[in-house]
Amino acid sequence: MYLTPVLHQLFQRLWHFDVPLVLLGILLLRRTGPIFYRLFIYPYFASPLRHLPGPKNHHFLIGQTLNQFRSGHPNEPFVSWMRKWPEAPLIRYFDVGNGDAILITGIEAHKEILHDNVYSFQKPPFFVKLIADIVGFGIGFAEGEEHKKQRRSLAALFATKNLEGFIPLLQNKARRLSQLLDDAIKNDGGELDIVALYSKITLDIMGQFALGRELDELTTQPPGTNKGTSDTMPFHACYHELFEPDRVGQLLVAINSIFPIRWLPIESNRRFKLAHKTLRNQIQSVIQQRIQELDPNTASQFPAENPNATSDLLIWMITKKYYSSNPQDRWTAPEIRDQLLTFLAAGHQTTADALTWATFLLTQHPSEAQRLRDELSSSSLPSNSDEPLTYRALNSLPRLHNFTREVLRVHCPGINVARQAIHDVVIQGTLIPKGTTVLMQPAIIHKNPTIWGDDCDEFRPDRWEEMGEEDDAWKFAAFSHGPRICIGRTFSMLEFKVLMVEIVRGWRFARVEGDERGAGEIKLVNPSPMLRPDGGLRVRVERAEPV
Ligand code: HEM
Ligand SMILES: *[C@@H]1O[C@H](CO)[C@@H](O)[C@H](O)[C@H]1NC(C)=O
Ligand SMILES: *[C@@H]1O[C@H](CO)[C@@H](O)[C@H](O)[C@H]1NC(C)=O
Repeated sequence: MYLTPVLHQLFQRLWHFDVPLVLLGILLLRRTGPIFYRLFIYPYFASPLRHLPGPKNHHFLIGQTLNQFRSGHPNEPFVSWMRKWPEAPLIRYFDVGNGDAILITGIEAHKEILHDNVYSFQKPPFFVKLIADIVGFGIGFAEGEEHKKQRRSLAALFATKNLEGFIPLLQNKARRLSQLLDDAIKNDGGELDIVALYSKITLDIMGQFALGRELDELTTQPPGTNKGTSDTMPFHACYHELFEPDRVGQLLVAINSIFPIRWLPIESNRRFKLAHKTLRNQIQSVIQQRIQELDPNTASQFPAENPNATSDLLIWMITKKYYSSNPQDRWTAPEIRDQLLTFLAAGHQTTADALTWATFLLTQHPSEAQRLRDELSSSSLPSNSDEPLTYRALNSLPRLHNFTREVLRVHCPGINVARQAIHDVVIQGTLIPKGTTVLMQPAIIHKNPTIWGDDCDEFRPDRWEEMGEEDDAWKFAAFSHGPRICIGRTFSMLEFKVLMVEIVRGWRFARVEGDERGAGEIKLVNPSPMLRPDGGLRVRVERAEPV
């Protein structure tokens, strides 16, 4: 009875006074309508992927992001899904904002994406923003024709013949490794954090490989700059600030990829900007120095005048690209700088993590360490690390080779190979709509019982012996595959092996007393693009009788 007048009054009020409010409401609905549709209608009722198998336990707004975060392992919950739906080549899940995402599990699906249709997929824009802010746009973010061109330009640098020339450098750093281990024995009773150790060694190696410089020497201020300016921050400090930020720093990197917050006047931003600018200035000044050292008239002939000379990445880019005879083919100094940053980032922690897990595995499997020693002692390798190693000799150590591959299989340092479809594309008979996130993780292949057997979680180098050489190369996914396969894979294997020879020959590692954690109990950095122990990994080291 009394409702009618109330409604009447309300209607009148709305009609007479609140027309603007109603209009605003409609406008808001129009704007949020598509968002509402994207979040709550499309994924459940319209997406062509809705019939694929996959988890349903996502958050209603941010999809599986929270579950990934809570899992504590960068490969989870993905590996669990693969095992839950072992027959499915594609598993569907929800991304941030309930966007469509699929996890690729089958080898055939990997081939279709990474090889047959490689340029139908690009790095996801979110990821590009996240990383390009730090390393700029080098080969890692080039797409399509431009990517092909850059790969071609750099191919000869990564040819075996050129990489061989780096063996003396690697041996030199291997001896440095032994010095640091001796220091640990002298100063700390033989206890040390191997994450920090390998991080230092591999960064120094990448410094030489990419810039042709000792990074420690870049800490000095270039002449002519004012004291107290940004240029006084040492290279290593800048590098850490950018690539290994603390928790607050990590959070800011993530937020900044969604909306810009670097203008906020807080300490973490200040440090980031200072490190960002300093690192670029330091690299830029090395580029300028080396451009000046080279005579442009003869530069283009380099290294032909001395066929034995090994080119580092920078000298290669200056002679082939900066001084290219074809103006359209030239790279500017800032472009070269971004490539250098890309290589430093891509080639440093990955190899350090591989060495970390290898060392951990040696502590868990002393018999494996012994077999590597036996192989070394019966090989033709010089018994002393001061004598030159050859590429051939290094590659005539099949047990070391299989050990290396097994380390990379069980503890694969690279976590994600992420893409987004740039147009509709059919994979394994399923239409993948433009914009779909496509996630590949090497671990999804390595930890798949239908590919590697029921003992796939176990570290067992012997399994390689049982595998034929003709076995599908795609079973080993640590460096990915296809035209975007890791360009540094041969260099990285070489680096790993030279350092392992030094370790196996002269050192014995053991767990720190009381630490009985198995691999599965070691806390990992998560979320993370790399598989690494959180807070380092301490072990004990002692001298072994030399082989
Ligand atoms: C154990 C060590 C390493 C692992 C596990 C590894 C893994 C990978 C993977 C999985 C990719 C593909 C990423 C994608 O397509 O999304 C990749 C790309 C790349 N890696 Fe490595 N990498 C290692 C060492 C290195 C080293 C030492 C260098 C440099 C000398 C390097 C330079 C690169 C570059 C430049 C790319 C981008 C290639 C392109 O997009 O064409 N990596 N790496
Ligand atoms: C290159 O190396 C070979 C074999 O080590 C040597 O005989 C030759 O003299 C070297 N050439 C130059 C230009 O250094
Ligand atoms: C290493 O693996 C290969 C297969 O890739 C196998 O042929 C060889 O026998 C293995 N060698 C050792 C010593 O395990």
